[in-house]
Amino acid sequence: MRYDFDTPVGRRGTASIKWDYSKRFTGLEELLPLWVADMDFPACTEVIEALKRRAEHGVFGYTLEPESYYRAVIDWMQRRHGWEIRRGWMVAAPGVVPSLNLALFAYSQPGDGIIIQPPVYYPFKESIVNNERRVVENPLRLEGDRYSMDYEQLEEAIDENTRLLILCNPHNPVARVWSQPELERLVEICKQRGIIILSDEIHHDLIMPTHRHTPTASLSKEAAAATVTLTSATKTFNLAGLGCSLVIASNAQLRKRYQNTQKRIWTGIANAFSAVASEAAYRHGESWLGQVLDYVQGNYEFLTDFLGSRLPRARVIPLEGTYLAWVDLRFLGLSDEQLKERILKQAGIWLDDGPMFGTGGEGFQRINLACPRSTLEQALEAMVRVLV
Ligand SMILES: Cc1ncc(COP(=O)(O)O)c(C=O)c1O
Repeated sequence: MRYDFDTPVGRRGTASIKWDYSKRFTGLEELLPLWVADMDFPACTEVIEALKRRAEHGVFGYTLEPESYYRAVIDWMQRRHGWEIRRGWMVAAPGVVPSLNLALFAYSQPGDGIIIQPPVYYPFKESIVNNERRVVENPLRLEGDRYSMDYEQLEEAIDENTRLLILCNPHNPVARVWSQPELERLVEICKQRGIIILSDEIHHDLIMPTHRHTPTASLSKEAAAATVTLTSATKTFNLAGLGCSLVIASNAQLRKRYQNTQKRIWTGIANAFSAVASEAAYRHGESWLGQVLDYVQGNYEFLTDFLGSRLPRARVIPLEGTYLAWVDLRFLGLSDEQLKERILKQAGIWLDDGPMFGTGGEGFQRINLACPRSTLEQALEAMVRVLV
């Protein structure tokens, strides 16, 4: 079936973080939001039908993820990513960020160093700080419009108290899909220095046609032994409000440590709807996903054309993966406060400010492309008006 992503679906009044809480988060009302990473598109029909069937049953007692859900995940990873995983490697979790925090408890002590590669998804740093671990930064390098990992700097940053590296693969917000050689080099360093890799692969299915996702743990035996993968169907299929994710570790010792930590806070019970939705998405959502990716690619082209003619010195970083465009506005010579004043307050457009993502984010804005093209156009028109 053909999906219509052009027609806006009103989300106000659904307790949507993106649409309903601007007053709480910014002090302003009625903003046009293209910030937090969810889509303004309805989920695929089969997911909606599966949720209706579950709701109509009417009994919502204690639930565990069914084996058919794990089977659907195994098939998906094999089919889409060529990654052979086993049922016994998977541990269900209520979300990638909760499991990231649990992994910090499982694999490190207060004061231990945890590496992140900013600019990066800001809960990485927050999780480290909130849990009294030490943030070790290995900022990405930007040459031209291409970001890369700085391996020499990484080697220097690691000391005897560094335990973990949180990898964003693909990388939000710089939209890189890390290649096999890039990941191999990273794994090599981490292996030599005894660093566990927490590979956040929540964006793994949001890959533009010219690229291919490599699951870090799929690279080699050594990579699998050093990696704990955090993943979910929620980003791919726009199910974030249902809360559901997986921790995948073939290394039995690492898995056990994670499970023991999880037991301590009792997150083992499932939400009655989330696995139903994720399973339906993995089984029936491929065509919907293909259409979303085409639409996002179209929005990315619209964005580059629009800025190319109306704000030609703005630099859009090539979108290899995710649906989040990373736009360099440093040529304007404005401070981040001034940028925010103009885009948020004057134009009423709510984007994610670059500095939220840490070192290297200054002067950038992140624009969520998973919206109807008319919404994107409206936001860009308003934004350009206050910037030229
Ligand atoms: C890299 C990354 N990890 C995790 C999440 C959120 O994961 P969850 O909703 O499962 O906690 C996001 C959401 O944008 C993300 O971009």
